[in-house]
Amino acid sequence: MSVPEEVRRRVEALRREIDHHNYLYYVLDQPEIPDAEYDRLMRELQELEARWPELVTSDSPTQRVGAQPREGFGEVRHEVPMLSLNNAFSDEEVHDFDRRVRERLGVDRVDYAAEPKLDGLAVSILYRNGVLERGATRGDGYTGEDITPNIRTIRSVPLRLRGGGWPPVLEVRGEVVMPKAGFEELNRRQREKGEKTFANPRNAAAGSLRQLDPRITAGRPLEFYCYGWGLVEGGVLPGRHSEVMARLREWGIRTNAEARVVHGVEGCLAYYRALQERRDDLPYEIDGVVYKVDRIDWQERLGYVARAPRWAVAHKFPAHEEMTRVLDIEVQVGRTGAVTPVARLEPVQVGGVTVSNATLHNEDEIKRLDVRIGDWVIVRRAGDVIPEIVSVVKSRRPKDARVFRMPEKCPVCGSRIVRLEGEAIARCTGGLFCRAQRREAIRHFASRRAMDIEGLGDKLVAQLDEKGLVRDVADIYSLRKEDLVALERMGEKSADNLLAAIEKSKSTTLARFLYALGIRQVGEATAQALAEHFGSLERLEQAGLEELEQVPDVGPVVAESIRAFFREPHNRQVIRRLLEAGIHWPAPRRQAGELPLAGKTFVLTGALSGMTRDEAKAALEERGARVTSSVSKKTDYVVVGADPGSKYDKALALGVPTLDEDAFRRLLEQASEPGARMPEA
Ligand code: IVH
Repeated sequence: MSVPEEVRRRVEALRREIDHHNYLYYVLDQPEIPDAEYDRLMRELQELEARWPELVTSDSPTQRVGAQPREGFGEVRHEVPMLSLNNAFSDEEVHDFDRRVRERLGVDRVDYAAEPKLDGLAVSILYRNGVLERGATRGDGYTGEDITPNIRTIRSVPLRLRGGGWPPVLEVRGEVVMPKAGFEELNRRQREKGEKTFANPRNAAAGSLRQLDPRITAGRPLEFYCYGWGLVEGGVLPGRHSEVMARLREWGIRTNAEARVVHGVEGCLAYYRALQERRDDLPYEIDGVVYKVDRIDWQERLGYVARAPRWAVAHKFPAHEEMTRVLDIEVQVGRTGAVTPVARLEPVQVGGVTVSNATLHNEDEIKRLDVRIGDWVIVRRAGDVIPEIVSVVKSRRPKDARVFRMPEKCPVCGSRIVRLEGEAIARCTGGLFCRAQRREAIRHFASRRAMDIEGLGDKLVAQLDEKGLVRDVADIYSLRKEDLVALERMGEKSADNLLAAIEKSKSTTLARFLYALGIRQVGEATAQALAEHFGSLERLEQAGLEELEQVPDVGPVVAESIRAFFREPHNRQVIRRLLEAGIHWPAPRRQAGELPLAGKTFVLTGALSGMTRDEAKAALEERGARVTSSVSKKTDYVVVGADPGSKYDKALALGVPTLDEDAFRRLLEQASEPGARMPEA
């Protein structure tokens, strides 16, 4: 059956509409419809093409991916060579460039097309009769690699041009970049999968574009920005660079929205400074600004020298990456006890800022980089991100370079440093005792949802710590009025108020108290669950991993963190002093499901000396147990008094545990304490 005419028309209409929305989204940066609607259009087109395969064309928006992996890349000769740019590193060098241009042209002032210099990979994209035919890398400028299937996966590259009037052969050139956000996300994903991460967005873009399997490229967040053109046949382009770029935009080619025409060298420098201000806010990395003589006839008069045009220059920003030496590696203790290795560097200017430290994240990262004390390294700083080490210059490694070892003891407080299984971060177990963690711990302890001590804010905590008045949270409860009034901005009245608030905080709940202790992994909800499960602090302190893991939401990691906290003698001591200071909470009232013997089944047999059978039954039921009359495998305990009956024999036969009267009494006693749980049978 041949394709019905209305299907043919619908397919064409869908393609036009999708292309139009791509144009609005990528070129004009003004999307009109939500993503979901766009997806619906795509799906409808895909369905129609699946049903009528003869309608599929290579420029259909559905045909971006699909190519199979290749053996290698073919070669592409650039008929118009892809040259490079001369650099200018100072205002003076830009002045020199402008002077040379004006002198050669014999003019007073030149208009320049100014635009960001994107830090990515140069590519050439050839359209024949408006349809994308070939995409290539720059290579050595004369010969590049054929990466057509990969280029096709980039959504901001149109598979066919919009409108009409384009030259039958039109080669556009530009930069493929990976936006900063996409780069961070890609590295996060790679790290999660245990695969290699990329040093910077440029490397990530290059690595993604040079994949033999275009399906991998398709999954990478790449974008294309056109900055010029190469081969043009059978058409005439306008006479200024800026006008050509505007025309390319109309044809659906994405150009950089930051591009401007500026007047003279002053215009160039003003543009440079304005863009430098915004450098960190741009979605992609730029390493400078490019100025191009706008008039193309003037470009032609200026011509080329060596492999760079005389009519353009790249005015570079201070680099985001520099080389320096690792003087030492130390560890820093953060407020949660996280122990982070930090490289102390020979100070170096990176992107206009002096960098003398770089984070090494964690032990695994040090191993991955194989960075040693004394090494030469590449440091990178981008935006507000903490400077980090990208790589080691192995060829420069000195003979005496030393391997770093994570300390076993916290350099601040001497407590053990532990690294839990499955965690990348090592932590100081010093908790409340560690000076580095103390201030934050005190603040957290006093915070509204913890002990709720009104008036004990940041500034006061800092003062109290400095003066040595509060070294740990227990010290809060020995503060005296005379200590307080001696502090800055602390009158009698505020001292009284603070002391009253401290006094009031003594009456709290177990859940708040546990949360206030700031145990790693124990947030408000977990503190509540622990309080409900254990009912008493003593029981929680003594609980083993297995029992901790019975608490809702407590897994092995949380359980181990709780154990580590209570194992640390300093923490136990602080807790004891807090309790001695008078912190207390009501014994929890229990709900049926939480009674100590809930879910346990008992059978009574024989006579007890101190109580009737009914009394014994009532005592068990009060504690949540069920009392039945016959023994089965499901019975948890058989209480055996004097002269027991056949139930005793049955219990022995089935292996059900039995309790004599003494054991029974001990059990009742235990199960009447708050938080008590029956030991497992
Ligand atoms: S114009 C003949 N404009 O910089 C000059 N290049 O160092 C053609 N680049 O290989 C280049 N942004 O990859 C031009 N706005 C821009 C650019 C740009 C980045 C790259 C391009 C080129 C290299 C030259």
